[in-house]
Amino acid sequence: MRRTIPIAVLSVLSGLAQAQSPNTFDCNKFLTFADDPTTTLATFKQSPETMAWNWFVCLNQPDASRNNNRVWETFKPSDQVYLLKGAEPLPYSDHENLPSEVPELAQKQGMDPKGLFQFLGNDMPGSPQNGIQQVDGLALKMRSGPPVPPSKNEQLVRFHLLMGEDTFNYIVANKIYNRDGLAKLTSNLDFPDTAWELKTSWFWIGTDQDFKALLTQDGYYISQAYYVDSTGQYQVGYAALSGMHVINKLTPDWVWTTFENRNNPKYTVTNDTPPKPMTNITGPTEAAKPVNTSFQQQYSNLAQYELIGVQYDQNLAEPKLLANSQLESAFQGSSSCLACHSTAAYSTKKNTFFSFNIDHTGGILYPTSVLPDKDFIGYQKLDYVWSLKRAQWKR
Ligand code: HEC
Repeated sequence: MRRTIPIAVLSVLSGLAQAQSPNTFDCNKFLTFADDPTTTLATFKQSPETMAWNWFVCLNQPDASRNNNRVWETFKPSDQVYLLKGAEPLPYSDHENLPSEVPELAQKQGMDPKGLFQFLGNDMPGSPQNGIQQVDGLALKMRSGPPVPPSKNEQLVRFHLLMGEDTFNYIVANKIYNRDGLAKLTSNLDFPDTAWELKTSWFWIGTDQDFKALLTQDGYYISQAYYVDSTGQYQVGYAALSGMHVINKLTPDWVWTTFENRNNPKYTVTNDTPPKPMTNITGPTEAAKPVNTSFQQQYSNLAQYELIGVQYDQNLAEPKLLANSQLESAFQGSSSCLACHSTAAYSTKKNTFFSFNIDHTGGILYPTSVLPDKDFIGYQKLDYVWSLKRAQWKR
């Protein structure tokens, strides 16, 4: 007698088979979904976690046309879109000149002065180019003690935002790279389905070779970087990639994925006294776990990174919470990427952004499901793109 296998089991089995067979995903034109978003969406829905990993692999390939930097490193950093004086940004592939201090210091320190440098923020009071204060206003601390080397000041995890070409072109076409443009909005924004955005987090290494070697051994991707410290001095050195949000608009609610290095709890701590290792309390989700194992085995340069989970449809209940321990550190318990970003909105009357803190008594509580339309009367919705908060008035 033939046994019937329940559909649920079959789909789990096929999911496993899919995860373990050699990967055949084609990175060619992945940023435009190979010009066929309908087929990509159908494949995505079979296993969102597998597609999230495929995108992560493609983003991390060396780009031969651009000095072999990783594909994502050639995305446009938000500081070159939302310029300090609100001017129109340079075309997508043109870069603003580095401040002269950066290549000079790099040269002195034996780094490659002609190479790429990630700009990890300006710490001077009042700077709009924040690279340490997270969405809740707090910063993520590094452990004060081994394996983190001693330093004069408390080390904080840094972050920055990057966008893909179609995101950038939409912002330029609609002239919303400054606040003046936002103030003139007469309808909700609607980015194209090929819009991509990233948010990345970094450990500052500076020029400490032992720390750099240790992080390399723990599978961190290392890049040249700089930031402006609170006294206005340029700091140039190496930085290690601890986390990455990757989003695109394959679905109308956007696809929300986030990756981080599995060794992060060794290096970063909570705000408790005494501090505890910073862990992720939202994942990896059950669906992400087998996919992580399979991709980590296939891609040795990404083997220490793991996908935490995927959100993509406001009508799906799970996962309700999704966070990166490096980017939503202290508010992971109230972190839904999709729900919080769905509140991105601007009031042209009051010239203010919508406030997503739903605890109006002063505590921190963020929406974990999409708020009703009536909450946004008087606002233009910004199609989930909160980085527009960085747009400056034209001066
Ligand atoms: C409580 C609100 C909130 C939550 C939860 C949240 N974000 Fe964000 N996110 C923001 C804000 C605000 C910014 C702009 C930050 C800045 O300018 O420094 C942002 C920036 C970003 C960016 C840069 C581009 C853009 O849209 O602005 C990406 C990508 C991103 N977040 C992805 C995610 C992902 C993925 C998650 C979940 C794992 C997440 N976010 C959770 C509020 C949130």
